[in-house]
This record gives sequence, C-alpha cells and structure tokens, in this order.
Amino acid sequence: MKETRQERAPNAKETAMSHQAATVNGHTISQSQKIATPHLGMSDEILASSSVILNRVLSNASLLVIKTKKAHWDVMGPQFYSLHKLWDEQYETLSERTDQIAERIRFLGGFPIGTATGWLEHAVVHENPGRIEAATDAVRELMEDHELVARVLRKNIEELEGKDVGTADFLTQLLQDHEKMSWMLRSFLSGEAVESIGSAPRKSAPHLA
Ligand SMILES: [Fe+2]
Repeated sequence: MKETRQERAPNAKETAMSHQAATVNGHTISQSQKIATPHLGMSDEILASSSVILNRVLSNASLLVIKTKKAHWDVMGPQFYSLHKLWDEQYETLSERTDQIAERIRFLGGFPIGTATGWLEHAVVHENPGRIEAATDAVRELMEDHELVARVLRKNIEELEGKDVGTADFLTQLLQDHEKMSWMLRSFLSGEAVESIGSAPRKSAPHLA
C-alpha cells in the first residue's frame, strides 16, 4: 500500500508532547525541546522496547570498554606486549560500537544512558574494583564477559525478530564482534601462553549458546 503524506504527519500525542515536558526512557526532556516520534513503520511500544534493549546492550558494551582499557593498563608478564596491544584494539572496537549503539537508540526516538551509574544498573557485566588480575585471569574474565554478552545478544535478537528487523540485524553484527573478541582471548588460554603470575591455564571451550 502506498504511504500517504497524511500518515507521516505527527499524531495528537506527538503534538501534545512537543509543547510540554516529557519523559523518554527515564530522561526528562525540557519544555522548550520539541519531540517527534520516528515514523519508521513500528509502533511506539516496539520503538520503546527496542530502546530498552539497546540501552542494556550499551551498558554492557560501556562497562567492557572500561574493563578492557583497565586490563590494557594493568597487564604484566611475558605476554605483555601481545595482550597490551590486543586489548587496545578491542577497546577501540568497543568504543566505536558504543557510539553506534547510542546513536541507534536516537534513531528510534530514545535516549542513550550516558552515566556510569546507569550502566552499572542495567548491565549484566560486573566490575571488580580494586583488583589487579594476573594476566591469565584477566584474559579469562574478559573472555567470559564477551561470551555472556553474546548469549544475551542472541536472546535479544530472537526477541526482536518480526518486530524490529533493523535492530535485530544491528545486534547480529555486534554479536559477531563479541564472538570474535572472545575467540581471540580464548586462543591465549588454549595455547597456554599466558603464565605471567603463576596461574596455570585451564582448557577452555566456547560457551556461546
Ligand atoms: Fe595505551
């Protein structure tokens, strides 16, 4: 069916929202800012639920950005250079992805969480404040974080199928990034190359489903 100009016009709710304070994903928008709901062929409910999912994805990715950079700073031992470099590359990838996730939330009319408090509240990834990990343990922890995020993303993608195909596709690409990053870290454990501070590597198999 051909889309008419009239179908693109703001609805009553949007018009009303443009003249008063509004709350979107827990963000309060001031009265002076106009808000128009995106007209992308998805209901307000689907747009809102995609933003909620993406904000959880953003929270996990943002904590992984911080944890990966911290591992890059702390690493010691014979594998120093390889891990220091690998974690810097993974940090760059994750930083780029956080920007893309946040901007996708805006595409859908939502607002990205931009506070450490908010990320901690919505993430499944956990921090270990004050702990300096042995290289092997840091590799294993980050590998498990990437696997955990991959498993959550797989569920998110299933949830979005048939509702928001664009976000499902976007998250599928992100899932592949986490699978690749976990593989790179798993390869260190499998090769028994990381024995910087006494921890003996254990056998490690993917845990992605
Ligand atoms: Fe650096």
